[in-house]
Amino acid sequence: MKIAVTGTPGTGKTSACRAFVRTYGDTLRLKLVELNRVVEEQRLYEGFDEERGCYIADLNKLRNFVEAMNEDVLLESHLAHLVAPDYVIVLRADPLVLVERLRNEGFPERKIRENAEAEALDVILVEALEACGDDRVFEVDTSRKSVEEVAACIREIVEAVKSGKLDEVRKKYKPGRLDWSHRLEALNKSDLRH
Ligand SMILES: Nc1ncnc2c1ncn2[C@@H]1O[C@H](COP(=O)(O)OP(=O)(O)OP(=O)(O)O)[C@@H](O)[C@H]1O
Ligand SMILES: [Mg+2]
Repeated sequence: MKIAVTGTPGTGKTSACRAFVRTYGDTLRLKLVELNRVVEEQRLYEGFDEERGCYIADLNKLRNFVEAMNEDVLLESHLAHLVAPDYVIVLRADPLVLVERLRNEGFPERKIRENAEAEALDVILVEALEACGDDRVFEVDTSRKSVEEVAACIREIVEAVKSGKLDEVRKKYKPGRLDWSHRLEALNKSDLRH
């Protein structure tokens, strides 16, 4: 079983997945695979993006690497929905919350704006739905949740997926209910443009 945790940078994928594994990893017997680290360590990239300061993943190689894994894994990355997972959990955050989180992380203002806009436009969610279909995609709004609360949502979904009792979580984490398109105007008006 391969469960992807994806989302725009700043939605808290790494924080939530590490908390999930710390708290529930043993009981649910799910190994965390941080795909961005895999890309670097296994050299599954096709170049280096100087501007972004990160490797450009070779998606085919990454897909092959993931396909060869035989254990139950939680795949964590903004690319995780693109490597043919069985299920996808898309973490979301109100774009204005995202701006605050990315500012704390020291992201350049231009990158903050780019990510906040992508979040307002549901870019990753749409990609996940296109890649996997809406009965395999769950959406978790992290805007007003602590890291531990997000980890508990992931646990709820993982347990449902493992037991095959999906009705409840499909209702609770149904994708497409968030609409932050009105935030685009606020993002334009704010001092993000430099
Ligand atoms: N639920 C949350 N509530 C408040 N702050 C959070 C939450 N989740 C993460 N953060 C904070 O937001 C920042 C980004 O979190 P994190 O690095 O986990 O995001 P990410 O989705 O893994 O981003 P990236 O794609 O850049 O790796 C960190 O400073 C983290 O402490
Ligand atoms: Mg991360």
